[in-house]
Amino acid sequence: MRLATIQFCPARGDTAANLNRLHHWISSVDADVIVFPELATCGYFFRSPAEALPYAFERTAPEIAGLVDAAAAAGRVIVCGFAERDGDRLYNSAVIGGKGLATTVYRKSHLFYREVDVFTPGDSGFFVVDLPHLDCRLGTMICYDWRFPESSRSLALKGADLIACPSNLVTEIWRTVMPTRAIENKVYLAVANRTGSETNANETLQFNGCSAIYGYNGKPLANAEADADAVLIAEIDPSLTRNKRFNDVNDIFADRRPELYR
Ligand code: ACM
Repeated sequence: MRLATIQFCPARGDTAANLNRLHHWISSVDADVIVFPELATCGYFFRSPAEALPYAFERTAPEIAGLVDAAAAAGRVIVCGFAERDGDRLYNSAVIGGKGLATTVYRKSHLFYREVDVFTPGDSGFFVVDLPHLDCRLGTMICYDWRFPESSRSLALKGADLIACPSNLVTEIWRTVMPTRAIENKVYLAVANRTGSETNANETLQFNGCSAIYGYNGKPLANAEADADAVLIAEIDPSLTRNKRFNDVNDIFADRRPELYR
């Protein structure tokens, strides 16, 4: 199957412009699964719920359904970050939808830095969706979730072959650790990061691009530059992740000792 990640600089507060760009890639990028960055519809650096609210969508909003319907019409699956409104709460979410699947929404479990002033910690938990037409089981985590090995491990234990990670990464260390998340779980991992910077109340956050698709052995299959738009594509075979043996004796899942881990 063909896996893509899109790297760009979302315009904070300009949902119309961002949605236009997302639709452009959904219709034109030749891939079965496309992963977009975290908060791709609205930009990142909000300091309060009131600031973010005008740019948030309910999961049933026409703008979100429009992205999913366009993906389905093009024969693709998308994972796309958006600010989700649910009653008086906001979540840092990703919609997973498109060809052959019921639309689901993952809500970011581990909130980063000033996100805690804006969003409610996610309550969706980590889940895996089946893409039968691709023989692929897809799990999603968002950005700072990478810091917690439990995020990717939970997805892998639930059967994920591929983890999508919509991101707005502001550090460099993730580039050292993210391949480990692929190796330790023997899964493919697609990091769709963003570029550019955002300033709010005299504080600037710089996003560092370098989106990557990692193979299940941690090797990069595709890499982006730090500061340019990028479409990364990799051909992957999800079925190759399922045998967790690496020699005649050892199996990285069967060898786990969960009774010792607390
Ligand atoms: C992050 O979680 N956006 C760093």
